Amino acid sequence: MRTDIPQTIYRKDYLPPAYLVETVELGFDLDPARTIVASRLTMTRNPASKQKHIELYGGELELVALRLNGRALTRRDYEINGHLMRIPNAPDEVVLEIETIISPEKNTTLNGLYVSNGNFFTQCEAEGFRNMTWFPDRPDVMARYTVMLRADKQKYPVLLSNGNLVEEGELPDGRHYAKWEDPFKKPSYLFALVAARLVCQEETFRLADGRDVLLQVWVEEGNLDKTDYAMQSLKNSIRWDEERWGLELDLDRFMIVAVGDFNMGAMENKGLNIFNTKFVLANPRVATDIDYAGIEAVVGHEYFHNWTGNRVTCRDWFQLSLKEGLTVFRDQEFSADMIGTDSGRAVTRIDQVRTLRQAQFPEDAGPMSHPVRPDSFVEINNFYTVTVYEKGAEVVRMYQTLLGREGFRKGMDLYFQRHDEQAVTCDDFRAAMADANGRDLAQFERWYSQAGTPVVKAETRYDPVKKSFEITLSQSCPATPGQPKKQPFHIPVAVGLLGAKGNDLPLTVNGKTVGSTTMVLELTKARQTFKFDGVLEEPVPSLLRDFSAPVVLDYAYTDDQLIHLFNHDSDAVNRWEAGQRLAMSRLLRLTKAVSEGGTLVLDETFIEAMRKVLLDESLDAAFREVALLLPSETLIAEQSEVVDPQAIHMARQFMRSAIGRKLQKDLIAQINANQTPGEYSPDAIAAGKRGLKNLCLAYLAAAFLNLDLAERQFDKATNMTDRFSALTSLVHGESSEAERALDTFYKDFEGEALVIDKWFALQASAPRTDVHKVRELMQHKAFNIRNPNRARSLLFSFCNGNPAQFDAPDGSGYAFWTEQVLALDKLNPQVAARLARALDRWRRYMPEQQDRMRSALEQVSASGKLSNDVREVVTKALA
Ligand code: ARG
Ligand code: ZN
Repeated sequence: MRTDIPQTIYRKDYLPPAYLVETVELGFDLDPARTIVASRLTMTRNPASKQKHIELYGGELELVALRLNGRALTRRDYEINGHLMRIPNAPDEVVLEIETIISPEKNTTLNGLYVSNGNFFTQCEAEGFRNMTWFPDRPDVMARYTVMLRADKQKYPVLLSNGNLVEEGELPDGRHYAKWEDPFKKPSYLFALVAARLVCQEETFRLADGRDVLLQVWVEEGNLDKTDYAMQSLKNSIRWDEERWGLELDLDRFMIVAVGDFNMGAMENKGLNIFNTKFVLANPRVATDIDYAGIEAVVGHEYFHNWTGNRVTCRDWFQLSLKEGLTVFRDQEFSADMIGTDSGRAVTRIDQVRTLRQAQFPEDAGPMSHPVRPDSFVEINNFYTVTVYEKGAEVVRMYQTLLGREGFRKGMDLYFQRHDEQAVTCDDFRAAMADANGRDLAQFERWYSQAGTPVVKAETRYDPVKKSFEITLSQSCPATPGQPKKQPFHIPVAVGLLGAKGNDLPLTVNGKTVGSTTMVLELTKARQTFKFDGVLEEPVPSLLRDFSAPVVLDYAYTDDQLIHLFNHDSDAVNRWEAGQRLAMSRLLRLTKAVSEGGTLVLDETFIEAMRKVLLDESLDAAFREVALLLPSETLIAEQSEVVDPQAIHMARQFMRSAIGRKLQKDLIAQINANQTPGEYSPDAIAAGKRGLKNLCLAYLAAAFLNLDLAERQFDKATNMTDRFSALTSLVHGESSEAERALDTFYKDFEGEALVIDKWFALQASAPRTDVHKVRELMQHKAFNIRNPNRARSLLFSFCNGNPAQFDAPDGSGYAFWTEQVLALDKLNPQVAARLARALDRWRRYMPEQQDRMRSALEQVSASGKLSNDVREVVTKALA
């Protein structure tokens, strides 16, 4: 068995580039089988470097010509070592001309230049540019690009690249050309080209400074009826960046292009964002409320990168969170501001907390745990993670919590003032925040350097005589790979105190009244006590309000206290949190009962708490929905001492069906009360009503009750949200109509790839779907493992979203996983490596189950021809 990891790259080894590139002229003669790439680089020796040779990176390239200052180089003039080329003893000023040949149609990795549905697209982040030509392919090399595209005019009428179109025209043999110039310096990972048969929705838009810019959304012809929401979201993003941060669009033209084969969500290439169709295409017939929200968030995210990522970029890939954490934070704030109401904001915040717990906390507790700013990697594509993105966003949010909104804005302004058109580090960002506010943020650095989820333990003491309330906070952080011991973090803990009537008590510290009923305590030591005076009654503490830090809060709440918070907390996140704690303690008890063959009971107290929130008309439907959602099976597994997936599933199903049975009448009433007749709108109020209504439907289905309601909704629905929810309830409720409905649904949407993805995903995650069923679905004519969305919809939905079946005691799920990881790895290592992570948490299962999981991992690991991507994941899992 091979256990070696291929070359590890360390952050501490960073060296500045030996040469800087001033200008890049690229020529592409596009042909699916044989594309000729010509590159002309003007380079100068970097005074900041001691190295004397030019270093270029290249993937699988056929090198046709290489000239230095006009002289053809021979094999004796340079050395190639794997993917690195060295040209020694180069002069200070260099013009390098390179010609390579590549075959885009053979590129199944979707990294570099590739063909999707007959059209050309690129994906260059992180290191895809080197798959087209030899180049100093690292983000701290920023250059000005001119790009000439040549292609068959009939097949590829649209030729796009970054920046501005400066020239276009005809060529012999039915070909044409377009020349593009990007006025801004950029790293190679932001390069993009598109050569395709596409159409666009376009619009002229006036910026705050009065300039008019051209906005375009490019899609395949049949999808032109699905571009409105992306366009609207783009305009909202531009406006919001102007208003909230004073950041303007710096180009005359901004394009979004949708592609059906894409490894990730979308890419922020300068002026030419390339998107997974999933985050562009929507109309009420095919897209759900969640899809609409995703489009708004991702369009915003990629647009916001224009400043946080493109104008100011990363020095090296260890700094990835500098742009990703910050940009996720910005898109989160954008989505919240678009809703506008306090309660709407709270629901978006709750969704963020759910994602973090569902995906990031497990990552941080598993074999791939890494700091927000990693210290090393084998394959950088494995580090586009929930830790870098979502925990990174939490870290940015904590600056705002500590410095206040104004202080944070000052820090942002200083960051841009200092670093525009530079490639910088997370330390530079922190320094801007500290300097703009005259604050010492030295300890805050540990959020970047230390991995793991900190645990904050709270203990409280009320003194009825002195009328004081003490909160003692202590922090610890579990060991993570390579980091056995952790130093204390700088943790903002927002707290409030609730009186017996559920009101917020005024806060007094050291004899001074705090201006607000929420106060941010700054925990910087291992253990600290905070004291409030003048507390006239024994309060219920509301701790970690608004989820003020990405930590686990350990406090011995009683059920009565939780119900008090669930009914009254003015902080909506903690109100929701109280409900989650009530549910989780019961789910853990029920799981244990299933495992031990005990009887299952759900107490009336819990049911009544659920009923109360369901019927509370003073709360938005959207909030009631999240308050009624039970913690997922993954979350219960994370909280279990030993994971028993089948017991967890049964316990949660029991609880869902109990809610369905006991609240039946109220659920039906809420279904009727939350209808949204009339024209579909994806706004938060309407979406909230649909969400609550469809959750009620799901609870009834869990109890196998009133399936006629789902059936009727499926037949009558005029939007995808209602249609797909009804279908889900029919399938999960094992209705006799489920098969018919699945068939009808398939036929109705056969031509809509994104809807067919839903059709596969629903079946893959249905409780009855076992490996045999998944294999059967793989034989379906619509299944195609090469398309990442389709692979995710079936394979990932099963391996990650159906634990009770995937973790079947006979090991059939793991055998399937082994096969699929290996099959995918031959085509697309990035996607394969994501699937490989489905076994990350194998050490938390029962011993026999662990053995089965480990042997599956070993089987993958023993395969000789693994990509670096998968090799790194399985090696770390087994370490
Ligand atoms: N920078 C892109 C984003 O907006 C992600 C692209 C990453 N792609 C990749 N293959 N690693 O988040
Ligand atoms: Zn991003």
